[in-house]
Amino acid sequence: MKNFKQGIVVVGGQWGDEGKGRIVDSISEHCDIVVRFHGGNNAGHSLHYDNKSIVLHLIPCGIVRENKLSLIGNGVVIDPDVLLQEIDTLKNMGLEVTNEKLKISYDANIIFPFHRQIDSHREENKEHFIGTTKRGIGPCYETKVSRTGIRAKDLICHDVLYSKLNHLSKIYSFELEAAYLTAKNWAKFIEPFLAPVGEILEAQFKQNKRILFEGAQGALLDVDHGTYPYVTSSNCVSAQASIGSGIGPSFLEEIFLVSKAYCTRVGEGPFPTEASKEEQERIREIGHEYGATTKRPRRCGWLDLPALKYAARINGATGVILTKIDVLCEITPIKICVGYKNNFGEKISFDEVLRNIEAKKQVYPQYEFIDKIEHFNDSIRNYNDLNDGAKKIISLVEDEIKLPIRLLTYGKERGKEIWF
Ligand code: IMP
Ligand code: MG
Repeated sequence: MKNFKQGIVVVGGQWGDEGKGRIVDSISEHCDIVVRFHGGNNAGHSLHYDNKSIVLHLIPCGIVRENKLSLIGNGVVIDPDVLLQEIDTLKNMGLEVTNEKLKISYDANIIFPFHRQIDSHREENKEHFIGTTKRGIGPCYETKVSRTGIRAKDLICHDVLYSKLNHLSKIYSFELEAAYLTAKNWAKFIEPFLAPVGEILEAQFKQNKRILFEGAQGALLDVDHGTYPYVTSSNCVSAQASIGSGIGPSFLEEIFLVSKAYCTRVGEGPFPTEASKEEQERIREIGHEYGATTKRPRRCGWLDLPALKYAARINGATGVILTKIDVLCEITPIKICVGYKNNFGEKISFDEVLRNIEAKKQVYPQYEFIDKIEHFNDSIRNYNDLNDGAKKIISLVEDEIKLPIRLLTYGKERGKEIWF
């Protein structure tokens, strides 16, 4: 297969939950290093292998494989309590997370309890309700950008830590001494993991190691390019893989855009191809569409090709990965959005769709219908083995996005996939 390049980025092409965890798990077999470069434990990346299931929120998915280095880059926001929990969970599964296997950037910003409290408190305000994961992600990025954030390296430098916390405690009214104590305790276990991630990456590239950048969330949740203000607080597009890990963009050679064969969204915000209530219930039940992080039922709808084309552009995607196509076997008819019209019946691009939505103007998805697609069996090895419905979906996607589908997955377990 595959002819993998040396720097591979996997990013979400929708509103997150495209199955990136499963994809990273599959590709990581052929890589040496897996890097998280943005977001935090708002992410929930699910893996299924050897009859085991695990959801990782913070540690890169490569951690479940032998001899892979996992890196958490400067662009990630880290809740040390969650990190500790995740290390414990992995340990209980027989996977020891040593500082040989996991390294954390000195420059990553740290999520404190006050960040979480602000996030939750804001979500109580119905006028500015985003439907966040309440993990403190947004407030942590706020302190980062306002240049008052506490970075991983500050935890081990107690004078700096105290004076930064002192400053923050006055702005956000939290108890200084308690926060200082918490942070000093975190420092004890985090210190051995701290490392110059960008430097390591460059050295590894020079030794011809293959690096996989594990995106979180998705293009339409990107703080610049998504359905603002109903977005997350980080950039989720491929360029962030460079910024959030400390190496230059020329290392990013292959950019895989992951999309489900349908669409979901958790939280508030526009979702133009959202299905009817009955259709949503059906998709949710078959696709197990409940949040991996918050357990919320996901809103469900139809594959939105103009949105995916937009995602391909802002990511500079080199190929598309289509996941969960098996879920559609049970659904008839299947709808696929192939274009949009505005109030005047004129065709509009997805850029215009976003502007129309923000200006509170109606947009009208135009659908193609597919009667049904047949069940997949495990003997499928290549394109020719696929049924007509699946071939039709593939050709619609490739025609619209003008990129090849490189990988199709038809089940959550390792191996239920075809590379093209
Ligand atoms: P936050 O990232 O917790 O601030 O949440 C902002 C928005 O992004 C909310 O709509 C969340 O539901 C959504 N979101 C954040 N992380 C993920 C994810 O990993 N998958 C899907 N949605 C997410
Ligand atoms: Mg998820």
